[in-house]
Amino acid sequence: MIDIATLRTLAAEANRAPSTHNTQPARFALDDAGRILVVADLSRRLAVGDPTNRDMGLSCGAALEGLVMALACRGIGAEVEDLWPADILWRPGYRLAARLTPSGAATAPDLAAFTEKRFTWRGLFSPATPETLAALEASARGKDDVTFAGGKDALAFIAAHNDAASLTVMRERAFRDELVAWMRLSPNHPAYRSDGLNLDALRMGRLEGAVAGKILASPLFSLADRLGLAASLVSETAKTMTAACLLFHRPAGESPVATGRAFYRFWLDFTRFGLAGWPMAVLADVPAAAEAMGQRFAVPAGHRLINVLRVGPAPAVLQKYRLPADALVLDG
Ligand SMILES: Cc1cc2nc3c(=O)[nH]c(=O)nc-3n(C[C@H](O)[C@H](O)[C@H](O)COP(=O)(O)O)c2cc1C
Repeated sequence: MIDIATLRTLAAEANRAPSTHNTQPARFALDDAGRILVVADLSRRLAVGDPTNRDMGLSCGAALEGLVMALACRGIGAEVEDLWPADILWRPGYRLAARLTPSGAATAPDLAAFTEKRFTWRGLFSPATPETLAALEASARGKDDVTFAGGKDALAFIAAHNDAASLTVMRERAFRDELVAWMRLSPNHPAYRSDGLNLDALRMGRLEGAVAGKILASPLFSLADRLGLAASLVSETAKTMTAACLLFHRPAGESPVATGRAFYRFWLDFTRFGLAGWPMAVLADVPAAAEAMGQRFAVPAGHRLINVLRVGPAPAVLQKYRLPADALVLDG
């Protein structure tokens, strides 16, 4: 039987998982039968960036996978029911994502050792050795949901589509406002160390952060766009070109929670090679970009592109900025 103190520790470990904009929507509770409920805190939803709550389901799935690993590290097995498709409101403001019944024994999975080492790197990548790249490519070849893309031409293709898709998305003022609301562009922001995207995560200095906030949140962006400057403001090409890329694709009808579990495992799996990752979700979310990626890199029929990650060695190790464990656990 899991007690509430143990659940808090498990929740903190589970919450090392990636989440969109670092929203950390997964919450954890015990029900009367001693099962662990994973619920999505709907106050953390991204109404503009994620109108169908798909990414929220994905983020909860990643945290669920973190929970399964955290239990396994304590020798506890788990039966998992994916409740996302049922679309059940657990309580006002909380959607049921999954129910987990501790059962049987388990051994710590190899990937669990990498949950603390995994992070998003939004800067230039250091060069990967040819051996590392070969190992990464070979590993992707052995999986049916990962496609490796490397070399100058492929990267230039991806970088151009990423920049174009980002500009499309950033032109929408409501999207920018929502993004800025999750940015912590000053160390004085009350949530600087607990959620959202702070200067450290964004690889920005204080001045850069202050300027970015002003440009994104105000009509300045539209003005810059009219002057032809917005494209260079959002461009990540120089950084993308220093990485290798992995396309992550899953069966088209899969539940977002199941996809999120697989996404976390996929990310931890290349962390093993000492590589950080930087997603380009727009390449999957903007239909023209997803279509171009699917054709150029032969995403298998029946699979849907979930994300494209830049991967490479990061010149620094970033810490995790997460909510305190107390905030993750709800009374059952
Ligand atoms: C489904 C999903 C999509 C994401 N897409 C992006 C993205 O497009 N760009 C980006 O910079 N980070 C993206 N991220 C990374 C998150 O912002 C990151 O996981 C979060 O800020 C926590 O930081 P960490 O990964 O360093 O622990 C995505 C994460 C998830 C789970």
